[in-house]
Amino acid sequence: MRLTRRYRFAASHRLHADALSEEENRKLYGKCNNPYGHGHDYVLDVTVEGGLDASGQIVDRAALDGLVGEHVLARLDHGNLNQDLPEFRTSVPTTENLVSLVEKMLLEHWNLPARLARLRISETERNTFELERRP
Ligand code: NI
Repeated sequence: MRLTRRYRFAASHRLHADALSEEENRKLYGKCNNPYGHGHDYVLDVTVEGGLDASGQIVDRAALDGLVGEHVLARLDHGNLNQDLPEFRTSVPTTENLVSLVEKMLLEHWNLPARLARLRISETERNTFELERRP
């Protein structure tokens, strides 16, 4: 059985690779390379998988919310991804990299009986990135 729980956070970023020239960056990332950055209202879907406990649930939703709230949302919401996260001093805060970072943030503190099965982040109406975690 799987449960998907949805969270939201707002953050700004700038897509810029230090190894590339200004012009190469503009070509590669287009308006996302704007030096002043821009914001997104991200939607994060966290999917957990497991058997049911005695209460008939996969996971204690308050415990999942606590984990995501403390270790993911508190670090990302209303932040600047480039400046606030040491991880993005050396990598570009694309949403692909952001999904991997959220996985790392969660696994470092994961203490729930259910397995983290999938993470999905929607950056815009048109872009959704998904990380499927095989058992
Ligand atoms: Ni963007």
